[in-house]
Amino acid sequence: MTMIKTPDQIARMREAGEILASCHKELSTFIQPGVTTFEVDQFVERFLEQHGATPEQKGYQGYPYATCASVNDVICHGFPTQYELKNEDIVKIDMVVNRNGWLADSAWCYAVGTISEEAHRLLEVTKKSLFLGIEQAVIGGHLGDIGHAIQSYAEPLGYSVVRDFAGHGIGRKLHEQPIIPHYGREGTGLLLREGMCLTIEPMLNLGTYKAKIDADGWTARTRDGKLSAQYEHTIAITKDGPVILTA
Ligand code: MF3
Ligand code: CO
Repeated sequence: MTMIKTPDQIARMREAGEILASCHKELSTFIQPGVTTFEVDQFVERFLEQHGATPEQKGYQGYPYATCASVNDVICHGFPTQYELKNEDIVKIDMVVNRNGWLADSAWCYAVGTISEEAHRLLEVTKKSLFLGIEQAVIGGHLGDIGHAIQSYAEPLGYSVVRDFAGHGIGRKLHEQPIIPHYGREGTGLLLREGMCLTIEPMLNLGTYKAKIDADGWTARTRDGKLSAQYEHTIAITKDGPVILTA
């Protein structure tokens, strides 16, 4: 299957992305101490329904919820639960929006109440690493440039880059080719071409990059129990450079 989308197809993905971005905007005020991650999930499901979209993650390879809600040491794919978010938590909310068969995928990390200086710095560095990765998504670049930009920024600052989960192509399906690691070497890997639509979704940890999976088969945690942060956008590679479809 081709990895290339037409401008018209990209416009459809942007429609999904706009709904997704407005949902995240709502979450930035909805997420407060005392709110459960299950309530966040229900809020998202209702929001998407009201905007003529569906949550693509629900039922995807048996995943049971509209969102992944990953608190503190959970790297990704956390289940929404009755856990009440509390002051100083960080929570990553990841969702995939389907609008008329075209998808967009974006995760955002929220600070609950007031967080520690150490956590705040992790969030800032992770967000910055996402944008440094996005800058490399240009025609004629290589896949390795994206990972290199993220890794070479984050590691000297003392953060580790998660290896077990990667970005991916996206379109009518959630996971399309290629796979986009968040570490790598400049000038290596697939040549980037106009019309590719990708997710870039770096996960940075305070301690080890190594992950372990809970008995539920989904929830991925840091092996040392230290904090993990993630930000994710869906982007399109165009003549005018990278365009963020989920902004
Ligand atoms: N949104 C995730 C990603 O970034 C996918 C979550 S897996 C699912 O690739 F099964 F929950 F959808
Ligand atoms: Co995602």
